[in-house]
Amino acid sequence: MIIAMTGQKGGVGKSTTAICLAVAAMDRGRRVLLVDADPQGTARTWGDVAAEQGHHVPTVIAMGAHMHKPGQLKAMAEAYDDVFIDCPPRVGDVQRSALLVADVALFPCGASAADAWALAASIEVLAEVRAYRENLRAAVVITRKQGRTALARSARAVLEESGLPVLRTELGARVAYQEAIAVGLGPTRFSPRDPAAREVFALFDDVEELAHGTQERDGLASQAAAS
Ligand SMILES: Nc1ncnc2c1ncn2[C@@H]1O[C@H](COP(=O)(O)OP(=O)(O)OP(=O)(O)O)[C@@H](O)[C@H]1O
Ligand SMILES: [Mg+2]
Repeated sequence: MIIAMTGQKGGVGKSTTAICLAVAAMDRGRRVLLVDADPQGTARTWGDVAAEQGHHVPTVIAMGAHMHKPGQLKAMAEAYDDVFIDCPPRVGDVQRSALLVADVALFPCGASAADAWALAASIEVLAEVRAYRENLRAAVVITRKQGRTALARSARAVLEESGLPVLRTELGARVAYQEAIAVGLGPTRFSPRDPAAREVFALFDDVEELAHGTQERDGLASQAAAS
């Protein structure tokens, strides 16, 4: 499956989520390709650090606005079980290209109203692409969540108003994410007993379900979270 981490807001956790999911997928024995589509190069730098440390890492490559074209990412993806694309924080050709090639678009998003508002432009691009790619699945992932506050709970409701399902797994704001990334790992390997590791595996399972259509495209994920 090809999963794009996208959305135009900066600093919401796209790269962190992409890297952590890529490591978790490898932990599950899958062949993983991590595509860095952001000129900032977060995923590539992480890959370099990981390689220097001698960690068993996914293949990391850079790609841009041509990734959806014939012979590009789709051709390369055949040698892998899972491909994670880390997009830059803006609406543009790269995001569109990623949505044109992905099976699943994930929108990492903070648990605040401001984050929810920022989704609007990305959702427009998604709608455009979906006009001719009906099967493109999409969901919001709540990231950097600060505890079980009333604010965080109401943010889920606001995010659901975007019309996209909100995956049941939420990634908390935890230093384990930052520490793991800094040493070229993900929390599932760096701190397997930390709640961050559990969250990442749970998120991976949610994404697989979404990709395989066991969660109805627009609604079931949110209902599951509410129950
Ligand atoms: N779940 C989390 N818990 C704690 N810190 C996090 C979490 N996710 C991301 N961060 C931190 O937030 C900052 C931004 O994260 P990240 O680089 O993943 O976001 P991004 O959406 O890729 O940013 P950009 O838009 O610049 O590409 C980083 O310092 C990262 O360590
Ligand atoms: Mg990033």
